[in-house]
Amino acid sequence: QWEKKRRPELLRMFSEQEYGVTPQSTDIKVKYELVASNPKAMSGLATQKQVLFHFTGKNGKTHQALLLLYIPNGIKERVPVIVSYNFHGNQTTTLEDDVIPSPLNELMKSEGSEKWVRGEQASRWSYELALRHGYAVATMNYHDIFPDSPDLRKFSILPLLPEYKNDLREANEWGSIGVWAWGYSRIADYLEKEKWIDKNCMVVLGHSRLGKTALWAGVQDKRFKVVISNDSGCGGAALSKRVFGENIARITANFPHWFCPAFNIYSENEAAMPFDQHELLALVAPRHVYVASAEDDQWADPKGEYLSAYYAGQVYHLYNMQGLPSEKQPAIHQPLHYDIGYHIRSGKHDVTEYDWECYLDFCDKVFSAKKE
Ligand code: GCU
Repeated sequence: QWEKKRRPELLRMFSEQEYGVTPQSTDIKVKYELVASNPKAMSGLATQKQVLFHFTGKNGKTHQALLLLYIPNGIKERVPVIVSYNFHGNQTTTLEDDVIPSPLNELMKSEGSEKWVRGEQASRWSYELALRHGYAVATMNYHDIFPDSPDLRKFSILPLLPEYKNDLREANEWGSIGVWAWGYSRIADYLEKEKWIDKNCMVVLGHSRLGKTALWAGVQDKRFKVVISNDSGCGGAALSKRVFGENIARITANFPHWFCPAFNIYSENEAAMPFDQHELLALVAPRHVYVASAEDDQWADPKGEYLSAYYAGQVYHLYNMQGLPSEKQPAIHQPLHYDIGYHIRSGKHDVTEYDWECYLDFCDKVFSAKKE
């Protein structure tokens, strides 16, 4: 009943009323061009590849996005991969000086800004840790798929779609979270063909708005076996009906392009929603979902994030899988790794090495259980 009736019903609600409907077929062709590679990146720890995605629409319009991939060296078999967008360009995720700046940099960065410089967000990217754990990591700047501003839709991949209109949005038309999620699936398309990647062990991970995106991507694309939300908050893991921290009125006013226009109906009106975010997490079952919170990130409602992960457990039980054991949120730095994962750490809204350690442990558990 869950698979035949309730899952499709919920998926339809999230599509029609929150993120917008992902087009069934976009008729967008993608070609991959290896623009740089380095077999001895990170002091020999990894092979680095930079792959330019060339998108072409049926209408002849084109678009480009740049993927950065690190594959651990010295492993004889295919490896799992963590796919995760970055906020400020591939070049900000590491100090390695051969990483090419992401294409849409110039469009987004304000003059004189200290952001966007090489390595600026490196603390959020525990590449070495992941590589030593035997994981590849693939990243792309999310602005490459849809520059994150309501005025910049025309620079996204959207104009490649025949039905695209710049000024008018249908009530259920996908917002940028939907478009970014589509982009995650295009990265999966590429990785499936990559010789050293184990396509049965693909993980999607995202922070904050990109955590909302990772969840929506992971729900729709079953190739992602572990779906990780880092501090995703409102419109991500947090329950909307608690109306704690950020709420629907604020998020839709500040970021009108993220969701479909129909989501505005629930602004100041969460109680009327026929669904809530724990049901989004449940749509990942029987694959694995992980939610992480930060103590000082009250805007994202850590308790609401936890409860959502807890209530998603009801669906995991249908598969004889184990959800989180108690409605009570665990203490700081006490990760819970059942078939659903959760941890809360000290500190602010961010991605830290501690978060990566927890994710890698959880993924190890999931993937080694599969091999047995
Ligand atoms: C803002 C927004 C959040 C979002 C965050 C981020 O704080 O209100 O919903 O998650 O930006 O993406 O960093």
